[in-house]
Amino acid sequence: MAPTPIISVHDVCKYYGNFTALEGISFDIKPGEIFVLLGPSGCGKSTLLRIIAGLETESKGDVVIDGTDMLGIPANKRPVNMVFQSYAVFPHMSVEANVAYGLKLERLPKAEIKAKVAEALEQVHLSQFSHRMPDQLSGGQRQRVALARALVKRPQVLLLDEPLSALDAKLRDAMRLELVKLQESVGVSFVMVTHDQSEAMAMADRIAVLKDGKLRQLDSPTALYKNPCDQFVADFIGRINMFDVSSHTRNGDAVQFDTKTLGTVTLPASLMPANTRNLAIAVRPERVRVGLEQPAAEMIAVTGTLGDVAFQGDSSLVEIILDGERSITALATEAQAETLMALEIGTQVYANWQPKDMLVLPENASE
Ligand SMILES: Nc1ncnc2c1ncn2[C@@H]1O[C@H](COP(=O)(O)OP(=O)(O)O)[C@@H](O)[C@H]1O
Ligand SMILES: [Mg+2]
Repeated sequence: MAPTPIISVHDVCKYYGNFTALEGISFDIKPGEIFVLLGPSGCGKSTLLRIIAGLETESKGDVVIDGTDMLGIPANKRPVNMVFQSYAVFPHMSVEANVAYGLKLERLPKAEIKAKVAEALEQVHLSQFSHRMPDQLSGGQRQRVALARALVKRPQVLLLDEPLSALDAKLRDAMRLELVKLQESVGVSFVMVTHDQSEAMAMADRIAVLKDGKLRQLDSPTALYKNPCDQFVADFIGRINMFDVSSHTRNGDAVQFDTKTLGTVTLPASLMPANTRNLAIAVRPERVRVGLEQPAAEMIAVTGTLGDVAFQGDSSLVEIILDGERSITALATEAQAETLMALEIGTQVYANWQPKDMLVLPENASE
């Protein structure tokens, strides 16, 4: 039997006047998972997180946390705690005093506060900095003070709104791992908002992809990457080469797709999605080979000229220019890239891949 969800969101809608910020959002969050709300700026992520936190009221639908309907339950009575986008800490208070602040407001006994603060600082590896002031800390350490301040209240769920967005790129990468480790050791569920797909992919157990206030797909990072439900999700998660389909014809076990860029492409009918409105066919860059020789007949191939080869360490991104306006991106291994970099830019090449590596995607799976 599936474990009882720690959070259930049922058909939640949020309207601001006649603007719809959220529409029919439903999902269950499992205890102990890192659940990420991902989508472009303005898609409703923070609004949804604030509704779960009780800082905003849903126009319709309901939120159940740990089996209790949250209707009418104020933020400070919910078993959740929020870490805000700008993780402001009190500059005039020591690390310890910052973490103790919320507990002091609750008038807990001194000894209990001391013990809980010590435990929270231990969890975020700041015990030796307890007497420092915030301006004596790095950005990452201040971030951990903010986390300790939320953890000290022992919430069942930590709600994090873009927790890493204020950090510089290198620190952000390190903090991703640290947050995952922290979540594993503390065992609380995380609901995290981000607009950064690589951050979501690196950290999440499951990702809810939102667009214009609607849930497009909810899946594990690998499932989202391998089986995106539509063009929006495919394009938002990772890189992809997408080709619009002008018409398609089913022929037994095969389907013929007419495209401007690739001409007519025949693919197995098993690749067809349930929704076939405004289709595109697509291929991930790591499936695309680039060669000088005409590829075997069973491959899907297109002729172009070699563009930029962008070195990124263990692999390189290769641009194949098709007709001056369109291009295809291939991901080449170190050895392949070395061969390609020896060629002149503008050399004629064949981009090619196997039919089974294509995705067939509607514009919007839920329309
Ligand atoms: N209090 C509000 N009044 C009116 N519109 C709002 C309010 N809060 C958010 N919105 C709008 O709702 C949409 C979603 O906002 P938000 O949840 O903050 O997006 P995200 O966090 O995904 O960037 C945006 O278009 C935003 O302008
Ligand atoms: Mg936001």
